[in-house]
Amino acid sequence: MPSSLQCQEKLHVAIIMDGNGRWATARGLARAAGHEAGIEALRRVVRAAPDENISILTVYAFSSDNWKRPESEVAALLDLFRRFLDSETEDLVRDGIKLSIVGRRDRLPQDLVCEIERVEAATEWGDLLHLRVALDYSARDMIVEAAKKAAASGELSRDSLTAALGAPDVDLLIRSSGEQRLSDFLLWECAYAELHFSPKPWPDFAASDLKEAMASFHHRERRFGALQAA
Ligand code: IPE
Ligand code: IPE
Ligand code: MG
Repeated sequence: MPSSLQCQEKLHVAIIMDGNGRWATARGLARAAGHEAGIEALRRVVRAAPDENISILTVYAFSSDNWKRPESEVAALLDLFRRFLDSETEDLVRDGIKLSIVGRRDRLPQDLVCEIERVEAATEWGDLLHLRVALDYSARDMIVEAAKKAAASGELSRDSLTAALGAPDVDLLIRSSGEQRLSDFLLWECAYAELHFSPKPWPDFAASDLKEAMASFHHRERRFGALQAA
């Protein structure tokens, strides 16, 4: 395994972890069971990411539009995030994984915000992988806030907005479960992202599916508007 971020080609991969509900329903289970199974898929992918030269992994866990779901599903998700943060800290620190939560915090329960701050502080020095979990996240809201911040600092430019958003451009965006849309995720950062759509629901997503997506990514020719290299 690579020993630190410094000696790798740095790839930013983003994943829209979709299809938990359908996975559960197809098995006669409650949707919450699909979200629980989705956590296992996340663990598998996080474990496999460093070997794929991924240094930043941003995953979509709860969109700002997901507040529109039934209260019981939202409560189950918030409880799952709490348990995930609580149970994961030790392993994240041991494995050199820095965890950040991106998105709004003012609508999250206070105890969850405290838990987030605790895990972020505990994993701050992780240098193998930066895992960014998007929670109460809306790319459009993030862009508005970043633009305000950049403008207040006196310079509203591509660079200052990217800096205010806090992450470099996405190299590869993966979405599971067959949907082919962005659902308000990383709209600025994905300007030149390669896109990979997997038919598998997220709970079935395996390390081999990440490998397959990365292999396909490495065969793409990224031109960024210029001409093909001679
Ligand atoms: C993704 O799975 C997780 C969240 C959006 C929280 P879904 O819950 O959207 O699952 P489907 O798309 O309804 O199957
Ligand atoms: C996007 O999935 C949000 C997450 C995966 C967390 P949704 O299931 O909410 O997106 P739509 O409604 O199908 O666009
Ligand atoms: Mg969905």
